[in-house]
Amino acid sequence: MYRTHTCGELRIGDAGKKVTLAGWVQRTRKFGSMTFIDLRDRYGITQLVLDGDTDLGREYVIQATGQVVKRESVNANLPTGEIEIKVESINVLNKAQTPPFTIEEVSDGGEDLRAKYRYLDLRRAPLQRALALRHRLAQEVRNYLDAQGFMEVETPYLIKSTPEGARDFVVPSRMNQGQFYALPQSPQTFKQLLMVAGYDRYFQIVRCFRDEDLRADRQPEFTQIDCEMSFVQQEDVLDTFEGMMRAMFRNALGVDIPNPLPRMSWYDAMDRYGSDKPDIRFGMEIHEISSLVKGHGFGVFDSADYVGAICVPGAAGYTRKQIDELTEWVKRPQVGAKGLIYIRMGEEGIKSSVDKFYTPEQLSEVAAAIGAKQGDLIFCLCGAKRKTQTQLGVLRIEMGNRLGLRDPKVFAPLWIVDFPLLEWDDETNRFYAMHHPFTAPKPEHMELFYSNRKEDLEKVCANAYDFVLNGNELGGGSIRIHQADVQERMFEVLGISKEDADYKFGFIINAFKYGAPPHGGLAFGFDRLCALFGGQETIRDYIAFPKNNQGRDVMIDSPSLIDREQLEELKLIVKTEK
Ligand code: AMO
Repeated sequence: MYRTHTCGELRIGDAGKKVTLAGWVQRTRKFGSMTFIDLRDRYGITQLVLDGDTDLGREYVIQATGQVVKRESVNANLPTGEIEIKVESINVLNKAQTPPFTIEEVSDGGEDLRAKYRYLDLRRAPLQRALALRHRLAQEVRNYLDAQGFMEVETPYLIKSTPEGARDFVVPSRMNQGQFYALPQSPQTFKQLLMVAGYDRYFQIVRCFRDEDLRADRQPEFTQIDCEMSFVQQEDVLDTFEGMMRAMFRNALGVDIPNPLPRMSWYDAMDRYGSDKPDIRFGMEIHEISSLVKGHGFGVFDSADYVGAICVPGAAGYTRKQIDELTEWVKRPQVGAKGLIYIRMGEEGIKSSVDKFYTPEQLSEVAAAIGAKQGDLIFCLCGAKRKTQTQLGVLRIEMGNRLGLRDPKVFAPLWIVDFPLLEWDDETNRFYAMHHPFTAPKPEHMELFYSNRKEDLEKVCANAYDFVLNGNELGGGSIRIHQADVQERMFEVLGISKEDADYKFGFIINAFKYGAPPHGGLAFGFDRLCALFGGQETIRDYIAFPKNNQGRDVMIDSPSLIDREQLEELKLIVKTEK
């Protein structure tokens, strides 16, 4: 037997026992004639003490046998801190090279170095806690959904392109030369086919692949809790998954979320928060002030379609320099505002960057309209309505961060509902599906959906919903189209020719002709869910082997070139750009 106990297990009540532990040497310290060793495994750290010297290096794998004794100087930071092991024998199971960084709660290694030696980084307690949380949450999901009669069904990874808005990763087929599989961006079409097949409550914890620009909350391969139900309306889906989230918050974090969860229409979310994933942990809501500020000779406002403002509480003390810095910040391409107007509610009265155009009374009116008080700072932006709201939304989050209003230990989940079905894109001069092309128009908007006027189509809403937590989109779904003719109309609205739709989606349109039940569902981003439950917005540490921002796995050095023989077999020629 390698060990009788783990390194996180022994307590004062075990004093006197003879035990054998196995693990990694975190560090050794000499103290007089004695040597102290911190022995670590997944469960914790136990102090070993032995008479004399050792030549054990960091990260050696050892087995130590000895007696549990009460420690003289208790370490209150360690659960095992009241005891130590008086070592009788040590067996070196494997030596180790000195690791390139310290393997402790806080490491001295930089991000790149730790990514290269991910297996060493994974020995660190914060990563172990993250993966343990992930495991716990996966169990909660399975328990809940199993109890609700959901069946876990696996769907294929080598498929044909499914449009979810990103690029596909493709895999060349050797047996079908010149042809390619696509890796699924989600199992969307398969889960709908499972509904046609009668598996009326499906779920899967499933890997999805999207070739898109990466950010802190995006990986090229990520995991979804993917779900679909038949014979349901939006209410049934929201109820079921609100229940799942409630159970997860309660069982994994001991947190009770509101019952029922708040709901907000997409239109309200955009108007009030400038985002379809509002962080409702703090106020600072957006207010339209167009009617108050237009027509006073300030050309920028006068010519704008929309003028909006947020009130930053207690920020009247912001210096000119700080405001200038924020002005530059909103002008960056990532935000894209033209400039920033401020109204300061300082001790010396109301002052603004547009004092030339407005009397203090007029500015007071603006302040009163948005609920600003003495000591507050108002920021205004103007331009096209949705674009300006989005910019104010980004500024709002930034101010929330700067003022410490986004406490990761506070959870404010909500549903965003009533999304528009379609989104017009000026560049390509066509509509795109806001969620995906399988989302159904609301039944009461069916007539508008068959109109050929752009203004009508823009008004069509969907029974589509997102689960939003603390300013992050954690999940989304919809009630689906289940009639072949409606699906065909959808492709037509999206400007996809009949031939193209048949080629790409003939299988699902066909399936709908063989008795497709009404159905709907959703998918949660599991990596995001784990990270947010762990109090982080970056998902990387909740994935055992993630990619970096360039989509590379620097540990295994992938992607990489492949052999000429492999290319030959696949009949592929690689064009390298000079
Ligand atoms: P959607 O595209 O909204 O919906 O994806 C669902 C959830 O998956 C997460 N997510 C990601 N997480 C990490 N990295 C990524 N690159 C990434 N992309 C998405 C998000 C998101 O809310 N088939 C539909 C669901 C449905 O309609 O049932 C779908 O995939 O948290």
